Amino acid sequence: MGEGISDYTKFCVDLRRHMWMAGVETELRRLIWQIAVTGKYISAKIHESNRKLAGFKNIFGEEQLALDKSSDAILKNQLQFSGFVREYASEEQDQIVQIGTGAEKYFVTADPLDGSSLVDTNLAIGTIIGIHNGAMYGKGRDTMVAALYITYGPLITMVYSAGKGTHEFVLNREGEYVLSQENIRLKEKGDIYSLGGLRKDWTPEHLRFVEYLEDEGYKLRYSGGFVPDINQVLIKNGGIFTYPALKKSPHGKLRLLFELLPMAFLMEQAGGEATDGKQAILDISVEDIGQRCPIYIGSRFEVGKAREFLEEVQT
Ligand code: F6P
Ligand code: MN
Repeated sequence: MGEGISDYTKFCVDLRRHMWMAGVETELRRLIWQIAVTGKYISAKIHESNRKLAGFKNIFGEEQLALDKSSDAILKNQLQFSGFVREYASEEQDQIVQIGTGAEKYFVTADPLDGSSLVDTNLAIGTIIGIHNGAMYGKGRDTMVAALYITYGPLITMVYSAGKGTHEFVLNREGEYVLSQENIRLKEKGDIYSLGGLRKDWTPEHLRFVEYLEDEGYKLRYSGGFVPDINQVLIKNGGIFTYPALKKSPHGKLRLLFELLPMAFLMEQAGGEATDGKQAILDISVEDIGQRCPIYIGSRFEVGKAREFLEEVQT
């Protein structure tokens, strides 16, 4: 995987060159490039934002920042004129938008500005993208060909996979995405954990799993932004992120199509795993764009342990 590229990492390898050397198919390469460039425009919007609420709610009843809406509009416009995208589904829109002629093969999903409520505190936020070929309903394992996220933090980074490993790029001062980590690999077992949901709302089996991690001395790392929290597990090469089923919301909080599938794709490509406790996230069938599900994602050891604890009640 990625052989032949490593020799070049001592030079400055930019995103386009990396994808070309890795043999990513031409249209997909151009699409990923276009989305990465769009990240720069979104970042510019973040910088010029006044951080005021737009006074709207999205389809999930969450307050939308003006930034959420403009990030969505920027992405949609850019994809519309790429010529490669048939349909666009966004967490900020209540239905799938047809943006192509109907002949294009790619379907793109977006969480345009994940964690936007953290903007006022100046914590990292991000954009999450899934790229599907032919359809976005069905199992991600059958439809997904690529995924990426962009992190807007002290640095702007972009992590992508087109099914040939997971790679990180940093946006440099010249505005180029330069390779910073090729073929990110998770250790079998890590030492950090990131826990969504309130302890009082957790199920007894999830609580027992968390107590196990605490007894084992895992360090708590949770920012409340899905992108930086997942990024932390990937870049530190191990650990686990969970957003579990809650007593009152058995499907958890995070959305399968916009948030979980892209991260599961990236994590599996880095040698990690992602499950809802019973099946791999990539094997869950998408039937509704707003579908939510619990998630345990990260190193194989911790995800396997989570499965053991959850199985105790499932069988
Ligand atoms: O998109 C939803 C989101 O903001 C994620 O970025 C994050 O992981 C999660 O919600 C945080 O949820 P909570 O506020 O319940 O910890
Ligand atoms: Mn989100």
